[in-house]
Amino acid sequence: MEKIKSFSKNINIENKRVILRADFNVPIIKGVIQDSTRIDLSIPFIKNLLARNTKLFLISHLGRPKSDKDNSLSLLPVFNYLKSKIEKKIFFNTNKITNKTQKEISYLKKGEMIFFENIRYNEDEIKNDDNFAKNLSSIGDIYINDAFACSHRKQSSIHKITKYIKSSYAGPLLMKEIISINMVLNNKQSPITCIIGGAKISTKLGVITSLIKKIDNLIIVGAMANNFLKFKGGKIGKSLVEIDAEKTVKEILNEAEKNNCEIILPSDFAVSNSTEGDASFKELKNIKDDEMILDIGPQTIEKIGKIIDASKTVLWNGPAGFFENKNFLKGTVSIAKKISNNTSYNSLISIVGGGDTISAIKNDDLNLNFTHLSTAGGAFLEYIEGKNLPGIEVLK
Ligand code: 3PG
Repeated sequence: MEKIKSFSKNINIENKRVILRADFNVPIIKGVIQDSTRIDLSIPFIKNLLARNTKLFLISHLGRPKSDKDNSLSLLPVFNYLKSKIEKKIFFNTNKITNKTQKEISYLKKGEMIFFENIRYNEDEIKNDDNFAKNLSSIGDIYINDAFACSHRKQSSIHKITKYIKSSYAGPLLMKEIISINMVLNNKQSPITCIIGGAKISTKLGVITSLIKKIDNLIIVGAMANNFLKFKGGKIGKSLVEIDAEKTVKEILNEAEKNNCEIILPSDFAVSNSTEGDASFKELKNIKDDEMILDIGPQTIEKIGKIIDASKTVLWNGPAGFFENKNFLKGTVSIAKKISNNTSYNSLISIVGGGDTISAIKNDDLNLNFTHLSTAGGAFLEYIEGKNLPGIEVLK
């Protein structure tokens, strides 16, 4: 593998203008950050750069705004959070990035930082636009990508910026993700089990069909499983399903059969009439038309536990239920605890990824232990699928 240019402590950055691309795409409800893991992990490096007297320009996106009028996707709560954690002078720049930006921000002194408002408020960001990337690059001397979780995006602040700035590097968090994931993938031992959850199969089809060739068991949980249950003629009430998923489901089942990979689907469930409701536990055949599946049930939890016990490597991405309501969190937490215990006591190699997965199991009392916990969702899946991520290719 071609070497990635990583940032090291020997690079002289004193008084240099450093652009740091982070991923602070965190869940925020009514201005309150629900899970700060991604920000907390970045803070030590931000502090280190400031202590080394750089002029720091910090960039992130949040969600997928349709326009800059979408205030619910402002990074202001993240700015306030950063201010409460970092003692240096920090400014919030809400202006769009143009050819005037360089001049506008020339007030910054060394050891200080400007945090930019949601980079996707600039509509040219997601277009990987040349001119926008040029304007963005003009504010810095050095660019550091420490956002593994969005390195699968071909967007200006991840990809095209590296064409116009003199020096580009991978940051420490990005390197840790890649080194850890490679270590697991290169040392994985059979039986290998993959647990895939979350809502959409269409976005995970590529990784699922590619993984099926390399693993022994594929456990499908979360709303994604509903499509398989429906395809097999199961009664799933008003559970969430994807439109036109039949073709995808068929493709996955055929591939699995061809490659001797066992597909395991949930057999009992926590259901309710609404996502805000209480859980009642049912087998598939007893689900009523006005009920929806919101988590896996106790028999399924036990079955998954046994498969994890029999596995030497486990890859897990995506929650097992509607974890935002605590009544439907049990399946996800049970999987997390089982993988964690087996990692600690049975030398299981485990790799867990995904923003939602982390949000669901983030609870200090759980004290979980995995071989690697990735903050990335889509990027993590594409990387283990063996794809080249555009944001990483440009750092080679
Ligand atoms: C993520 O949370 O997976 C990353 O921040 C990427 O976000 P995106 O899917 O909106 O590009």
